[in-house]
Amino acid sequence: MTLRPVALAAALIAASIPLAAPALAQDAIDRKVDALLKQMTLQEKVGQLHQLSGAEATGPEAAKRASQNTEIRAGNVGSMLNIKGAKDTREAQALALQSRLKIPLLFGLDVIHGYKTVFPVPIGEAASWDLEAIEQSAQVAAREAASAGIHWTFAPMVDIGRDPRWGRVMEGAGEDTYLGSKIAAARVRGFQGPKLGATDRVMATAKHFAAYGAAVAGRDYNAVDMSLQQLYEVYLPPFKASVDAGVATFMNSFNTLNGVPATGSAFLQRDILKGAWKYKGFVVSDWASVKEMVLHGYAKDLPDAAVKAINAGSDMDMEGEAYIAHLAQAVKDGKVAQKHVDDAVRRILRKKFEMGLFDDPYRFSDAQREQAVLADPRHRAIARDVARKSLVLLKNDKINGNAILPLAKNAKSIAVIGPLADSRRDLEGGWVVSDVRGEVVSILDGIRNHAQGAQISHAAACAPGCATAEGFDAAVAAAAKADVIVLAVGETWDMSGEAKSRTDIGLPGQQTELFRRLKATGKPVVAVLFAGRPMIFNEIADNADAILYAWFPGSEGGNAVADVLFGDYNPSAKLPATFPRNLGQIPISYAQYNTGRPVTSEKDIVYRSAYIDSPNTPRYAFGHGKSYTEFGYSGVQLDRTILRPGQTATLSFELQNKGKVAGTEIAQLYIRDTVASVVRPVKELKGFTKVHLQPGERRRVTFTIDRDTLSFFNGDLKWGAEPGEFKLMVGSASDDIRLETTLHLQ
Ligand code: NOJ
Repeated sequence: MTLRPVALAAALIAASIPLAAPALAQDAIDRKVDALLKQMTLQEKVGQLHQLSGAEATGPEAAKRASQNTEIRAGNVGSMLNIKGAKDTREAQALALQSRLKIPLLFGLDVIHGYKTVFPVPIGEAASWDLEAIEQSAQVAAREAASAGIHWTFAPMVDIGRDPRWGRVMEGAGEDTYLGSKIAAARVRGFQGPKLGATDRVMATAKHFAAYGAAVAGRDYNAVDMSLQQLYEVYLPPFKASVDAGVATFMNSFNTLNGVPATGSAFLQRDILKGAWKYKGFVVSDWASVKEMVLHGYAKDLPDAAVKAINAGSDMDMEGEAYIAHLAQAVKDGKVAQKHVDDAVRRILRKKFEMGLFDDPYRFSDAQREQAVLADPRHRAIARDVARKSLVLLKNDKINGNAILPLAKNAKSIAVIGPLADSRRDLEGGWVVSDVRGEVVSILDGIRNHAQGAQISHAAACAPGCATAEGFDAAVAAAAKADVIVLAVGETWDMSGEAKSRTDIGLPGQQTELFRRLKATGKPVVAVLFAGRPMIFNEIADNADAILYAWFPGSEGGNAVADVLFGDYNPSAKLPATFPRNLGQIPISYAQYNTGRPVTSEKDIVYRSAYIDSPNTPRYAFGHGKSYTEFGYSGVQLDRTILRPGQTATLSFELQNKGKVAGTEIAQLYIRDTVASVVRPVKELKGFTKVHLQPGERRRVTFTIDRDTLSFFNGDLKWGAEPGEFKLMVGSASDDIRLETTLHLQ
C-alpha cells in the first residue's frame, strides 16, 4: 500500500477550507485587549484566570454542572476543560455570552495523540525521528479536535525522560534534548499551523514547565533536585524550542524544583519564560497545582497559594479553587499587585482574540463540520503511515541463513498468540479522548488482512495483565502446529501515563513464562512488544528470533505492525530512549559523562565507574533500530578542519544501501567537546537525517556544523562555544558509530 502523506496533508487542507481568524495586527489586538480590560471589574478579571473541568450535564454531576453554569453566566470562568463536541461546547459558550462582557470561553482538552483517530503514543511517534510525520499527526489531531469545538490542546509534553519507571515517558519524545526540541517544535507547528485562529487547528501547550520528567526515583509528582547546568542544558531546550515555534500556552508542573513548586516558581515563569525568553503567551497551572502548594508545604493555605502562584507568573488556575476564591481579596489587601492580574488577563484575552472568538465565539463549534471531519477516512491512512514509521525492529535473527522477518506472505500457517494479539483498547494506549476502540485494528486483524492465504490460529493464552497461566497449554498446543509464532505481549494501555510509575518495568504477569513455553516448541517466535515506556525483557531479548517494539501504535496499529511483519514497510524507526538491562542502571542515557575512571573494557572494572554485577552498557542503545537492509557508511569529509568565527563546516559522508530491498536509514551526528570549562558528555546528538535508498544506491549525506552546534551553557549559565577540539561522530545508533573526524574551533 503506497501512502503519500504529504500529498494527503495538502488535500486535507484543500478539502476542509478552514476559516482563518480575521487578520488583526498584534498592536490592534493589544488595543482591543486594553479597551476590554478597562471595562472589567476586578472580579471579572479574576474570572478569566479561572479554568473549570466541565461536569456532566446529567446524572450524578448534574447539580455541579448547574452551579458551573451559574458561574459561567456570572463571568467567573475564563476557560473550561473536558467539554467536547460541537453541541456541548456551543451550549457552554452560549452561557458565557450571557455574562456582562460576553467574553467567550476557551475550551481545552488533552488531545495527546489524536482526538478520534488514535495515533501512536508520543514516545512511539518520536521513534520515527520523522518531523514531517509527527507534524502531520498533530495536524490531524488538531483538525479533528477543532471540528469538535476544541480550541486548545494540552500538548505537546516536552519533558525529557531518562527514567522509564516514570509512566509519563509515554507522553514525551524520549531522553534526548536535541531530538526532543525538534519534535516539540514539529508538534507545535502541527497543532497550531502557521497562524493561530484557523478552524482546523488548535492552540498548543508546552508542558510541564519544568523538569517534571526528573522526578526522584521515577515516582510521578515527586520532587526534582537538579543542577542549573542540567536544567539549562537538558530539560529547558525543548521548552525554548516550543517558544520559538510560537506555542500559544505553557503549563507549569506538579513537582518542586530545587525546593520550590514549579507553580510557585518566579525563577521559571517570570525570570526565564517571560523574562529571558520574552514569552507572550499565558501559563496555565497543572490540575489544582496551585492548591497543592499547601500540601507541598510551600503555602500556608489556599489564599497564600493563590498569592504565591500569581506572583510567580502562573496565569490561569486549572480546576483551581484558589484564584477565584481569593485573588480579588489578595489584590485589595495589597498582597498581589494589580499589574500581575492585569498582565495575566491580557495574555489570556490576547489568545481569545487571536483565535477569532470575539468575532464569532462559535466558530469552532460547527456540528456539520464535526461530522464530516471525524468521518474523513484519510486520517486513518495518515495514522497507519505514522504508526509503521514508529515501529522499532530490535532484533531479526537468521535461521538457516534467512532472516526471520519479513514473513512470507504466502506463509502456510501462523499462530498469533498472546493477551494483546486481539486487543483493541490496549493498542490505543493512554490519553484517549473518544471511545472508538471498536474501530481499532488489532494485530490479529492486521495479520489476517495481510496473509489471506495462510492458516491463522489465535489464542490469547491469558487475559491482559496475564495474571495466571491457565490458558497456556491450549495456546502452546495451537502454536506448535504453526510454522511461525507471532507473540503479542506487553503492558496494558493503563500501565503507563500519568500516575503510572512502576518499580518493575518487566513484562507484567506471566508473559515471560508464556514466551518460554512457546519458545520450547522449537518454532520461530516473533515477539511484538507493546508499551508506553522502555521495558526490561532480557529473556525475550536473548531468545526470541525477532523483536518488534510497537509501543501503543493507535487505531491502525494492527495494519501497521502487519505492514512491517510482511515487509510491505521496511522498518526505519530508532529508539528515542535507552533501554536498560536492569533497574539498577536507571536513570540512564547515552549522553553520560566520561568520569575520571571510565570503563574501557568490561574485563577491567576494578576501581572503575562500573557495577560489579552488570555491564554499564544498555540492552538497546539510544538510536538503535534495525532494517531489512544494511547500510554502509564511508568516505567522511569535512570541508574545513578549523572553524573560525562566523563560519560553518560541512561534514559529508557516503551512505549506501548494501542490501536487496529499499530502506530508510536515520543517520545520526554526535559530537564531543573533548576539553571544556564544564565537562561535556561523551556524546551529544547534534543532527540526524532520514535517507531513503534503493538497493545498491549511494548518496552523499551532509551535516552542517556551526558555532551553535558546539555551544553549551558554561558555569555562569552563559551559552557559547569554547575554542578547542571537537570529535564528530556519525553512525547508525549511539553505540554504532561508523565514522569519526575532528574539528577545531578557533
Ligand atoms: C494533569 C496532567 O499532569 C496534565 O498533563 C493534564 O494536561 C491535566 N491533568 C489536564 O487533564
